[in-house]
Amino acid sequence: MKILVTGGLGYIGSHTVVELLEEGYEVIIVDNLVNSKREVLDKIKKITGIAVTFYEYDLCDKEKINLVFDKEKIDAVIHFAGLKAVGESVEKPLLYYQNNLISTLNLLEAMQKHNVKKIVFSSSATVYGNPKSLPIYEDFSLSATNPYGNTKLIIENILTDLYKSDNSFDITILRYFNPIGSHKSGLLGEDPNGIPNNLMPYIVRVATHELDVLNIYGSDYDTVDGTGVRDYIHVLDLANGHVLALKNNKSGLKIYNLGTGKGTSVLELVTMFEKVTGLKINKKIVSRREGDVAACYASNEKASKELGFKPKYNIEDMCLDSYNYIKKSKEIN
Ligand code: NAD
Ligand code: UD1
Repeated sequence: MKILVTGGLGYIGSHTVVELLEEGYEVIIVDNLVNSKREVLDKIKKITGIAVTFYEYDLCDKEKINLVFDKEKIDAVIHFAGLKAVGESVEKPLLYYQNNLISTLNLLEAMQKHNVKKIVFSSSATVYGNPKSLPIYEDFSLSATNPYGNTKLIIENILTDLYKSDNSFDITILRYFNPIGSHKSGLLGEDPNGIPNNLMPYIVRVATHELDVLNIYGSDYDTVDGTGVRDYIHVLDLANGHVLALKNNKSGLKIYNLGTGKGTSVLELVTMFEKVTGLKINKKIVSRREGDVAACYASNEKASKELGFKPKYNIEDMCLDSYNYIKKSKEIN
C-alpha cells in the first residue's frame, strides 16, 4: 500500500513514517517545511534504510497537490500537516484558518478527484474544551476556546459532511492527548523554535540550562497535588495508533481517542524527569495559565477494543526519551 503522509517531516509525522516503513508500507511525504527540517528525511533513511519520496509542496497550492496524486498511485492518506501553536493562533487567526482549512480542503478535493477514499486525520483533545467529567469519551460534547482548536473542530465537521455525502469514504479521526518522547535512536524528536509553550519541551530546556526556571502554572487545582493533570502519551505509541487505524477493517467514519488513559500531574512529571535523568529542574509556582483545564485524560477503551491500541511506554520512558533526543542533537550540533 502506498500512503501519502502530509506533514511527514514534523514531530508526529516523522515517527509515524518510520513505523509505516517498518511495517512494509510505501510512503510519500508532502511537507512545506514551515515547522520542520529537510534533514529529517536523512534521519528517516538512517533509521529504516529507505529513501522516501518527498515533495516540498505547500498543501495550500491546489495544483501542486493534484500533481502528487497524478504522479503517484496513492491508496490512503494520513493528514498531519497543519499549524499547531495555540498562542500564535490567537494572535494570527487568519493564518491558522487559511493554512489548516485551505490545505485540508485542497487535499480532500484532490482525493475525491483521484478516487482515493481512505484518510486518517490528526485531531486533538483540545476539541473537548472543558470536559464535563473524566475520563473523556469520544461522544462527549465538543467546543473550542481558540482558533487552532476551532480549525480542528471545523475539519472534523467537514470530514463528517463529506462522509454523509459519499459513504465510500473511509475516514478515521484520531484525537491525540499529549504526545511527548522521541524515537529510541535519538535521531527524531521535538525541539520547538523559540520558547516552548508545552510542558515537556520546557522541562528539557531547563535541564539543558537554556532556560532558567520552569514556571508551574497553578498549584490550587482540584487534582492530586494541585497542579494540572494531563494524559501524556509516547509519540511511538501514537505512531503505532496510525498504523492500526490504517489496518482497521471497520469502514465508515470512526473517531478514536489516542491517550494512555492515565493522568499525570505537572509535579509528578517533573519528579519523574529528575529521577530518570539525575538532573535537578529549577521550578517555581506561578498563577494559573489562562484557558487551562485542571485535568484532562482519555478513555482509550474504544481504540483498544476496535483497533487493538495498547500503549507500551510509561512516563519513565517518555521522560528519558524526550531528554535523550535533545541531548543527542546538542552533542551533534
Ligand atoms: P509539527 O509542526 O511538528 O508537524 C506538522 C508538519 O506539517 C510540519 O512539518 C509542517 O512543516 C507541516 N505543514 C504545516 N502546514 C503545511 C502546509 N500548508 N503544507 C505542507 N506542510 C505543512 O506538528 P506535530 O506535533 O507533528 O503535529 C502533527 C498534527 O497533529 C498537527 O495537525 C497537530 O495539530 C496535531 N496534533 C498535535 C499535537 C501535539 O501535541 N503535538 C496534539 C494534538 C494534535
Ligand atoms: C496543549 C495545547 C492543546 C493541545 C494539547 C495536546 C496549549 C495552550 N494547549 O495543552 O491545544 O491539544 O497541548 O497537545 O498549548 N504547564 C506548566 N508550565 C509550562 C507549560 C505547561 O505548568 O511551562 C502545565 C500546564 O498548565 C498544563 C500541563 O503543564 O497543566 C500541560 O501543558 P501543555 O504541555 O501546554 O499541554 P496542554 O495544556 O494539555
